Amino acid sequence: MKLLDGKLIADQIKNEIVTEVVNNFHNKGLSAPHVAAVLVGDDPASQSYVTGKEKACREVGFISSVYKYPANISEEKLLDVVDFLNADPDIHGFIVQLPLPGHIDAQKIIERIDPLKDIDGFHPVNIGKMVLGLPCFIPATPSGIITLIDRYDIETEGKNCVVLGRSHIVGTPISVLLSRKSKHGNATVTLCHSFSRDIPSITKEADILIVAMGRHGFVTAGMVKKDAVVIDVGIHRIPSSETKSGFRLKGDVDFDNVSRKCSYITPVPGGVGPMTIVSLLQNALMAAKNKII
Ligand code: GUN
Repeated sequence: MKLLDGKLIADQIKNEIVTEVVNNFHNKGLSAPHVAAVLVGDDPASQSYVTGKEKACREVGFISSVYKYPANISEEKLLDVVDFLNADPDIHGFIVQLPLPGHIDAQKIIERIDPLKDIDGFHPVNIGKMVLGLPCFIPATPSGIITLIDRYDIETEGKNCVVLGRSHIVGTPISVLLSRKSKHGNATVTLCHSFSRDIPSITKEADILIVAMGRHGFVTAGMVKKDAVVIDVGIHRIPSSETKSGFRLKGDVDFDNVSRKCSYITPVPGGVGPMTIVSLLQNALMAAKNKII
């Protein structure tokens, strides 16, 4: 078994981005890519994601700004914030951290974002372009998975690929990317969800298994074909008396047992997570270079 080391690859890509920022921005007298994040309310997970994104921006020499609002901000006011960021020529790309409070229609907010600044790739224009194989912002987690597949030279053409979970952020876009007619596509993709029957009989046929269910330890060794490639998108804080923090991060896959059986596997932490953040940086770089038309 080989680890798909997301931390290692993300660090390599960050170094590549630093070189780009120096050569194509600083040395040309241009200001560095500027990324903004909108954070509503005080959900600890959202706060920690946004802090992680800010840190990554600093590491590669990007400018980053966070716009924080209380949970009771009105939908109208948040739409104004989006309009303001759309119109600010100094901001190349931005995200609105999800989830949003229940009184705000998240889809309405997403649809207000200028698709050319939508570095999350959640706007319907970007999703539509992704399906058609046109230049666009690809959502960060699926983009990071494709980059891992690329950097570890994993063949996807003609492979049986099973995706567990059909979220808009991960499962649905990765199933599109792997089945597209493209370099890291051409796979036969099966997308499983809450109505799928006998999931183990489906996963046992997978050459590549992508797990984005949000259920800790869902995939056990008995569900995995020998020498499969297993990519775990899950991230769960599991209470632990053995760590200082009092918890341990675990995925949707029973790593200890599944890793004995597969050819490649992503660890949690250090697998898909770092790739997600670095993919957002890559999208921001594309936004600053005006690469999406
Ligand atoms: N919440 C969980 N993941 C994401 C993400 O990738 N982007 C945004 N904006 N919110 C999230």
